[in-house]
Amino acid sequence: MLIFAHRGASAYAPENTLAAIRKALELKVDGIEIDVHQVEQGLVVIHDRWVHRTTNGKGQLRDHSLASLQTLDAGLGEHVPSLLQVLQLIAGRCLLNIEIKGVNDLSLLQEHIEIAVEKYHFSLDQIIVSSFDHHLLRALKTTLPRVKIGALTATKPIDYAAFAQTLQAYSVNADVSFLDEAFVADAHQRGLKVYVYTVDEPADLLELTQWGVDGVFSNAPDKAKAYVASLEPR
Ligand code: G3P
Ligand code: CA
Repeated sequence: MLIFAHRGASAYAPENTLAAIRKALELKVDGIEIDVHQVEQGLVVIHDRWVHRTTNGKGQLRDHSLASLQTLDAGLGEHVPSLLQVLQLIAGRCLLNIEIKGVNDLSLLQEHIEIAVEKYHFSLDQIIVSSFDHHLLRALKTTLPRVKIGALTATKPIDYAAFAQTLQAYSVNADVSFLDEAFVADAHQRGLKVYVYTVDEPADLLELTQWGVDGVFSNAPDKAKAYVASLEPR
């Protein structure tokens, strides 16, 4: 089972910051998950549309210029990083799940993926673009058919993972609260990987392992990895 550091190693450093990414790399995670918004003509790594939960700023992202956003303190003196800074730091050392929270200009994302591959040592296979916005995923798949997409869901649809298959997704990225064994079996039967968020509890990890889940997003990826390893037969 792959273990992704959720918002970086967010149990140990402010979420979605370079410190959280560095910590995740230090813990030798299989992958890192980050959240991305567009601000002006840049892509920045931050979870919320409103900045007050994770920074010392106020208001919405759209109230900020790219320059003013980057002056905010995102915790322990960290700043809101750009996607470029994150790509440069990871440099292809692990998988990267880029969750798109709010991006209007898909060509910006396309440029970043090209830079990741051409300049920052990623192979295209190491990048997954996920979103709850399935319209955006469909548009992305049309523009960049070779990019892996992760279809996010916080629900258990009547026809299980059919929506992800329709989107030609690589994975269905599902909320642990709604996932069950039937959903996992359905997704696998459609040729989809199943990645689950947000998983920090050993009891959840045990159940998900038994169901054959392919990966989890965890705030404390070292603990998740150690627990999963302890379940493997010696
Ligand atoms: O990508 C999985 C997970 O991060 C989705 O939920 O709210 O933590 O971004 P959220
Ligand atoms: Ca996320």
